[in-house]
Amino acid sequence: MSAEKGIAIAIDGPAASGKSSVARRVAQELGFVFVNSGAMYRAFAWQVLQAGKDANDEVSVLELLHSTQFECGEKDGVGTVFVNGVDPGEQLTSDQVNATVSAIATYPEVRERLVAAQRAYREHCNVVMEGRDIGSVVFSDTPYKYYIDASPEVREQRRKAQGIVDSIADRDRQDSTRKASPLVAAEGAVVVDSSDLSLEEVVAVVLRGIRKHLA
Ligand code: CDP
Repeated sequence: MSAEKGIAIAIDGPAASGKSSVARRVAQELGFVFVNSGAMYRAFAWQVLQAGKDANDEVSVLELLHSTQFECGEKDGVGTVFVNGVDPGEQLTSDQVNATVSAIATYPEVRERLVAAQRAYREHCNVVMEGRDIGSVVFSDTPYKYYIDASPEVREQRRKAQGIVDSIADRDRQDSTRKASPLVAAEGAVVVDSSDLSLEEVVAVVLRGIRKHLA
């Protein structure tokens, strides 16, 4: 990592493993910017739906990608994403987006475009970024890599408790089996099984590791 760049903390894991809550808290504790890379894939999935495109039609999706502008920024320490000047807001977690996002995330060109936007954060700030390929691809050079897991049963329960209809098993399958940057625990990542841990306990494990390294 070059001296001018910020510090990147990579937090990966499957759907509803708790990685978002952990990453948000870790970022607050350290005063780093929290970025949910999944929101970028969701924003583009929303755009695909808005345009009435079939997410499984790669040619048509890529055509749309070429005419889409992403503006990724930060507000109050949290990453923001605008698509063609619009903030999709709550639409990012709609049932339709949940059902579509993993299909568009399989396309290498979509990933290249969004990975570049993700890497740009470290050019001007310290960042805690969560996703599926942050430790393995986006910031593969960072020494701070965490993989937050939980059993499928616990993850289904957590999502239900949020009152969200989500096809976790489908997304897990698509995310883990795709050719481009599949979901994996990056080499050297600290794997934390959060099935029987509270949010506080997981945050403590992650912070302990980072502080030991930073000291
Ligand atoms: O809902 P959850 O927090 O599990 O997922 P998310 O982080 O919002 O990501 C939604 C979807 O975007 C994932 O299921 C992946 O298909 C895709 N994604 C990805 O491919 N790579 C990332 N770095 C982040 C998300």
